[in-house]
Amino acid sequence: MPLPRVFLYNKPSNSEPEYSCRGLFFGKVYALFIHRAIIVCEVNTLQVSNHQLKRVVKLIIQRHANIGSALELDSDPVSITSYYSKWAETYDKDVIEGYIGIKLISELMHRYIQSDDWQLAKDPASLNIVDVGCGTGIGGSSLAELGYTNVDGIDLSPEMIAKARQSGFYTNLYGGININVPLAANLVGVYDAVVCLGTFTPGHVLPEALNQLFQMTRSHGAVVVSTRPEYCDTTDFQQVSDSAEADGLAVLKHCHKDAPYRDDGNAHYWVYQVTG
Ligand SMILES: C[S@@+](CC[C@H](N)C(=O)[O-])C[C@H]1O[C@@H](n2cnc3c(N)ncnc32)[C@H](O)[C@@H]1O
Repeated sequence: MPLPRVFLYNKPSNSEPEYSCRGLFFGKVYALFIHRAIIVCEVNTLQVSNHQLKRVVKLIIQRHANIGSALELDSDPVSITSYYSKWAETYDKDVIEGYIGIKLISELMHRYIQSDDWQLAKDPASLNIVDVGCGTGIGGSSLAELGYTNVDGIDLSPEMIAKARQSGFYTNLYGGININVPLAANLVGVYDAVVCLGTFTPGHVLPEALNQLFQMTRSHGAVVVSTRPEYCDTTDFQQVSDSAEADGLAVLKHCHKDAPYRDDGNAHYWVYQVTG
């Protein structure tokens, strides 16, 4: 596992130190073994007081604990809702740094659906997109940058959805939707493309939910999903995907294995064209 690094910037002495989990600095090295991660603090002791250091380290420990504990959820909608209701406030700060997948999944979707064999309209603004497990809407700005202004978001957690609403990137937002169970009729067959980032994750969405994403999509539309390699290793995601193809629901156009995702690990990106 790569070592997360604490980086304390030089700041004027009357302001708060900024912190980040990456970077390099000179000075003393503090190593902490916490939540299966080693945190190495490199600190310029001339600029940062002991008190400030303790505060920053506490925040970073909390950040790693939040990410680590999320991977230990048990797919129970009540525990997931409760977990994310508490995390919603600091989620973006905790995950944003080094979260390469946000941009990558939007760009992948864009590249595929704009190619000729997708037969979708070429004007991004005219396509209906849905971000499933959108959380706080961290992916909304990448979609908007590519011209996708007609984007809905779906999530189990009302608190995460409330944050997504504040982002201003979504047209309709639906909280309290569990995609492990059959969809409401208003969500069936309405989207040109579905993106789903960081949600097929251990303890979160079950592999069978992939079929729900196909159901949301119009014929010839796209479904683009990220999975951590360990999710595929420990679930029957691959079999669910194979069965969907065998049943004629969708065609797997590409699977980008071990592509960049976060700075603590890679992911597979699955790109489907819906046929059903
Ligand atoms: C790790 S967050 C990812 C959020 C966002 N896509 C991102 O990349 O930052 C996982 C999200 O999936 C949502 N989620 C988990 N299980 C779900 C389910 N069964 N149905 C719908 N959303 C679910 C959680 O509420 C949470 O917002």
